[in-house]
Amino acid sequence: MDIWKDIDAHARAVEGRRIVSLFEADPGRAQDFTARAGPFLLDYSKTNIDTGGRAQLLELAQAAGLPERREAMFSGARINETEGRAVLHTALRNPDTPVTVDGADVSKEVRATLDRMEGFARAVRGGRFRGYGGAITDVVNIGIGGSDLGPAMAVAALAPYHDGPRCHFVSNVDGADVHDTLDGLDPATTLVIVASKTFTTLETMTNARTARAWMAGRVPEPAAQFVALSSAAERTAEFGIAPDRVFGFADWVGGRYSLWGPIGLSIMLAIGPGRFREFLAGGAEMDAHFRTAPLADNLPVLLALVGMWHNQVCGHATRAVLPYDQRLARLPAYLQQLEMESNGKRVAMDGQELARDSGPIVWGEPGTNGQHAFMQLIHQGTRVVPCEFLLAAEGHEPALEHHHTLLAANCLAQSEALMRGRGLDEARAMLAAKGFEGAELDRQARHRVFPGDRPSTTLLYPRLTPAVLGGLIALYEHRVFTEGVILGINSFDQWGVELGKELAGTLVPILEGEAPVTGRDGSTAALVAAIRAMRGPMETG
Ligand code: F6P
Repeated sequence: MDIWKDIDAHARAVEGRRIVSLFEADPGRAQDFTARAGPFLLDYSKTNIDTGGRAQLLELAQAAGLPERREAMFSGARINETEGRAVLHTALRNPDTPVTVDGADVSKEVRATLDRMEGFARAVRGGRFRGYGGAITDVVNIGIGGSDLGPAMAVAALAPYHDGPRCHFVSNVDGADVHDTLDGLDPATTLVIVASKTFTTLETMTNARTARAWMAGRVPEPAAQFVALSSAAERTAEFGIAPDRVFGFADWVGGRYSLWGPIGLSIMLAIGPGRFREFLAGGAEMDAHFRTAPLADNLPVLLALVGMWHNQVCGHATRAVLPYDQRLARLPAYLQQLEMESNGKRVAMDGQELARDSGPIVWGEPGTNGQHAFMQLIHQGTRVVPCEFLLAAEGHEPALEHHHTLLAANCLAQSEALMRGRGLDEARAMLAAKGFEGAELDRQARHRVFPGDRPSTTLLYPRLTPAVLGGLIALYEHRVFTEGVILGINSFDQWGVELGKELAGTLVPILEGEAPVTGRDGSTAALVAAIRAMRGPMETG
């Protein structure tokens, strides 16, 4: 698209222009580069995007056919072309809105499943669904990827709303995970949720069998304390889970977009069906905004365009996600799957190599912790890392309001410092005031220079309620979709995870000594030999 060339030319023309100069030139910049939707305020003024650049980026979204693709997604078209599927996670949070796939209204099924989930959650929370030893005290969700990261993130995020059984999450095939999680739990009052769309995933099925064996030691009928969240009814039956304990969903719900339906059962158990409905409603409100707001005021679109300016235009390969909200500690991990599994592709929908970089490398940690770890590099390192700050105006602990003021001050200070920096003269003056002079002052001053001009966005919301969390997740989902459309990627497949799975399958018998190490590269063969040698004494000793 020619518009890319215009954007590149514009980027070259403004390279080296300091972001602060944009505020000096335009006193209304903060307002002009702030957008609002529902409870969210997005400030993207601390970037080097000006009104001309923004207009070009919006034109790019338009030229890529974003409005049409967006409509195609919401209306149930098979936009996941490499898997021949519709993409309708939005239907899960809009249960009262009819949507047709192949002529059938899928909302009826969505409502029926939601009703069943609510009935089950009420029974568990109310003590009517009981374990062998009494009311359920603990829930263990066994899943991985989209069947773990979303619910685990949301359950942690909504801790102030927990009034149900304790929820735990097991994902890794490393036996340490299932061991440490089950350790100390009472099998007789534990409910195990096996969350797997396919019900074939190695990690989940291995952990599920281990959990069943653990329970079998104490509970005469462990299957009665198991629930399955899956699209594979035959496999759940083979595992021994009764159909009324299976909550299914259609193939148009992608794994990393699935926490809105059955995969979110642990969230519902933790906060209750009413709060879960608020969570869905928050997501639905963001859907309505994304679907109808003009591109120029559209939060997911703006967030995507800012990200693409930094990544595909300016070449900043990574983006730091910095929630100044401790309960969002798992948000970066959740976003790693959402963004990198969705947009980490090297060919476009038509099979041609991408002309631009794929989506960014996403990473992060909650603030203020990151300030005492990696922010040094972001402030003074040689690479530019665009930052995405998230902040609630208030916390859930009125008695600890002062903590929240300190948290907010630190969040604002980081974005301010990143943009402003500190020049050599300022550093020298600061040191001179402390009594430094001569060569020592010169030498020390250089270490105190902050280049500044480092871009960031800030997303502000009143408080991390279930509705706000729902809106936040939907905002990120639509941002990923927007980027994918502009890059021409199918954001809804994940073929890149397959090769490793296949090779792992063939390595198991080799590691167990049941198959020879033939046809492997020298490094892999040597590592196999080393592992077997190191394990030897443990096995015999
Ligand atoms: O391996 C990647 C993946 O397929 C993810 O896309 C998915 O979220 C995860 O595995 C778990 O899959 P399942 O829910 O089928 O166990």
